[in-house]
Amino acid sequence: MLNLNDPTLLKTASYIDGRWLITDNQIPVINPANGQELVSICDADVEDANRAVEAAHRALPQWSALSAQQRANLLRNLFQLMMQHQDDLAQILTLEQGKTFAEAKGEIAYGASFIEWFAEEGKRIYGDVIPAPSSDKQIIVLKQPIGVVSAITPWNFPNAMISRKAAAALAAGCTFVVRPATQTPLSAMAMAELTHRAGFPPGVFNLIVGKDSQGLGSVLTQHPHVAKFTFTGSTGVGKKLIAQCATSVKRVSMELGGNAPFIVFDDADIDEAVQGALASKYRNSGQTCVCTNRILVQKGVYAQFCEKFIEETAKLKLGAGMDADSHIGPMINAKAANDVDELVQQSIDQGAVLKLGGTTTSQGPNYYLPTVLTNVSNDMPIASNEIFGPVSPIIQFEEESEVIELANATEYGLAAYFYSRDVGRIFRVAKALEFGMVGINEGAISNAAAPFGGMKQSGNGREGSRYGLDDYLEIKYLCLGGLNNT
Ligand code: SIN
Repeated sequence: MLNLNDPTLLKTASYIDGRWLITDNQIPVINPANGQELVSICDADVEDANRAVEAAHRALPQWSALSAQQRANLLRNLFQLMMQHQDDLAQILTLEQGKTFAEAKGEIAYGASFIEWFAEEGKRIYGDVIPAPSSDKQIIVLKQPIGVVSAITPWNFPNAMISRKAAAALAAGCTFVVRPATQTPLSAMAMAELTHRAGFPPGVFNLIVGKDSQGLGSVLTQHPHVAKFTFTGSTGVGKKLIAQCATSVKRVSMELGGNAPFIVFDDADIDEAVQGALASKYRNSGQTCVCTNRILVQKGVYAQFCEKFIEETAKLKLGAGMDADSHIGPMINAKAANDVDELVQQSIDQGAVLKLGGTTTSQGPNYYLPTVLTNVSNDMPIASNEIFGPVSPIIQFEEESEVIELANATEYGLAAYFYSRDVGRIFRVAKALEFGMVGINEGAISNAAAPFGGMKQSGNGREGSRYGLDDYLEIKYLCLGGLNNT
């Protein structure tokens, strides 16, 4: 059970216009570590979602009129509160999501880093002055907040995926309504509580939690007062939401699925590559869009890499997230573990060789062992689908041109990784990979300063970095004429 230093961080309701919305209908929140109910929360409906958008709309004029410094002061308060309550926030996160406490603490720091980053970056929303085609005119470019932003966020990073979107939106002068995943609402509610304590005016940050995903989704994608919609989740759901947004031509940004290749060339430092692959593959039990999905190893180092990687993977201890000695936590639920197992078993039927894992444990149906498959080919289900679980399929290749083709043979284009010490190859391969983010001799690429986002069906727009504000701003062109009149 929860053992918080500040028990008032545990909230169980939506937060609209600066108030908690208590309803009779309840939704259970399940702890993935033991399958038991952690707490039950209030279920909000379509009417409540409409009220949340309207509150954001009412709050917009005052919020957007504040100076960037005034908004930055509130964002900094929020950053400090998040870091001050890091342990409590991490505990809430682990108990509702499953990842280890150490990883959850890392996620809180990661989420807070976006708040800090955009508190600063909001002060640098520069416009432009452009030479006009005639001397009696002046062209001026202003950047203005786009308006009310709505968001739907996933269960795999219940804090950071909200922070990354909210920080940019709020710093740009937009107001915000978010619907978090119903599996992991408590982190979002704790965040709403901290926005309240930080001093954000009512209606600037709103949170709507309810199980009517279609109804709430329709409000967030179609309400006339919503100017921009942002989503992190699967490509399949993303496509439907884009279609809904099209009816009123909303600005959208999408951070969707991935199928990240992790390429190890003959000239790589193999020990470094093994460590990079472990970090990138098993983060959050493999339930991460940028996780390594397929490991492609050149023939000359295939045996050596496989041996070391299997040896290191075997050391990872699977256990409840709150157990101090666990390296990997349970998956979000039994269905997620079953889906992963299906991909594993289908690929074994097609000739993949199981070297490690490949099953759940007596700890419960959510506990899927870190798994390694060799003799995999790129068209097997375990390599062609987004796994979203702790499974490492290893594929052998011979030539650089061959591996580029294999790596790009996917509809996804989020993240890719490769290990090489040849500087010519590094530039050739980095340019040829059709992915929005490329880790070169590095398995951990996510941070607030970097532009996070994908190509192809992995989505559009960038989050974090100096580019992260662009999606929340309108460019307005002013043509100032009559300048030669005396
Ligand atoms: C994700 O899985 O969608 C986000 C992971 C990250 O920010 O690194």
